[in-house]
Amino acid sequence: MSKDQLIIFDTTLRDGEQSPGASMTLEEKVRIGKALERMRVDVIEAGFAVASQGDFEAVRAVAAAVKDSRICSLSRARAEDIDRAAEALKPANAARIHTFIATSPIHMKYKLRLEPDAVVENAVRAVKYARNLVDDVEFSCEDAGRSEVDFLCRIIEAAIDAGASTINIPDTVGYAIPGQYGDLIGQLLTRIPNAHKAIFSVHCHNDLGLAVANSLAAVLQGARQVECTINGLGERAGNAALEEIVMAVNTRADLFPVSTRIWTPEIVPASRLVSSITGFPVQPNKAIVGANAFAHESGIHQDGVLKHRETYEIMRAEDVGWNANKMVLGKHSGRAAFRARLDELGIPVGSDNTLNQLFVRFKELADKKHEIFDEDIHALVSDAQPNAEEVFKLVTLEVTSKTGTLPEAKLLLSVNGAEKPVTATGSGPVDATFRAIEAVANSGTTLELYSVNAITSGTDSQGEVTVRLSQAGRIINGHGADTDIVIASAKAYLNALNLLRSGLDRAHPQAEAI
Ligand code: KIV
Ligand code: ZN
Repeated sequence: MSKDQLIIFDTTLRDGEQSPGASMTLEEKVRIGKALERMRVDVIEAGFAVASQGDFEAVRAVAAAVKDSRICSLSRARAEDIDRAAEALKPANAARIHTFIATSPIHMKYKLRLEPDAVVENAVRAVKYARNLVDDVEFSCEDAGRSEVDFLCRIIEAAIDAGASTINIPDTVGYAIPGQYGDLIGQLLTRIPNAHKAIFSVHCHNDLGLAVANSLAAVLQGARQVECTINGLGERAGNAALEEIVMAVNTRADLFPVSTRIWTPEIVPASRLVSSITGFPVQPNKAIVGANAFAHESGIHQDGVLKHRETYEIMRAEDVGWNANKMVLGKHSGRAAFRARLDELGIPVGSDNTLNQLFVRFKELADKKHEIFDEDIHALVSDAQPNAEEVFKLVTLEVTSKTGTLPEAKLLLSVNGAEKPVTATGSGPVDATFRAIEAVANSGTTLELYSVNAITSGTDSQGEVTVRLSQAGRIINGHGADTDIVIASAKAYLNALNLLRSGLDRAHPQAEAI
């Protein structure tokens, strides 16, 4: 049976980044972009170029760094958005502009305040405008999951006539149910006279936990592009998880008339990279990329797997990149080997000076930890290249923790270059450390989340800490990594404070009235 290609459109860098607290720096986006390219993702939505200068530069940097995947920027159905997207995409080998407008009655009436006729006009104008700038234009009907089918047929036919070659049917609010959503795709494909001139795409949110199921139901009805994210990252409950879509299609090749180009051994490394950069841990029982996804606890299962692995395993752990965890470098590795590994990981080094600084940190880490894995290198680079101006810096930290006494933290902080000693007690060493920082910073923030993850296995592993702070409705995640988790915690807290001060706010594509 010859199979159609299922286009994998990854939106980790755009919809994924819309997750509260998941913002990424330009350099982090390039690293993720390179990981997606290694995985052979077909289309990478690198951002929403008009949102801010930072987003614009990130789209441009990903477009310049990634050559084997098509690079896309989101834009509302407005000329200024489309111009900005086209400008940011200039360095791309293959570019796509993704323009959208809401089509559900509730969005048209209350958000857009436009009559349906005007929505069709805007859509057609936007697609034509974008087609004058790039060859490849995708058009999305925002909130298609709650739109009227007749209206969808009308606007989609007009968008295809205007030059859109991909039509996306987002379930923006995660409202759809697999059978019904699959039917919707089937109906659109049969009712729209020019449907054969476009690829139909799906983009499902996970509010009811059905994003992957809905996407797969749509594929069975003829959708040939799935929009998804690594680890299912995304707005609210997230988007369909790329790893689940790809492995469902691969594993049930008997059912799906499609195949993807994805190089699956890169799945787990990409999942770890996204988790480490965003600070969103992967739950242990998460399909494909969770720590327990291939672990057999019960004696009966272990016995079966040892006798004949297919008794309980439908996929092979190594096929998705488990165990690909290479011990890449150690204490005796030299600068050339370190540089070569950075290049292989797609980490831009820039000047010799930056390489030297990274190498010094690498040697310090190798003294504490014998085996250095790729994950360690990523954490080291993130730590060395702060994502915000470092107003607050940790100079030294000393904690005492002893049974029967109140833990105490003594810190020397640098605030705008001036050193400030501070001491505080707390219910544990981390609590004491955070209290000490607050005694100096007095930030007025609330601690919403504190999490520690071991980056690799073993007790000498680096701990990766995420601290989520909120202040007047803003949410910021700070990250820190160190083999000492109290130091990692202090770094994460200070990073969150520095991010809050840097005010990296940007426009949200779906929030504004048009
Ligand atoms: O969920 C959604 O509707 C979107 C569109 C902008 C494609 O993310
Ligand atoms: Zn979305």
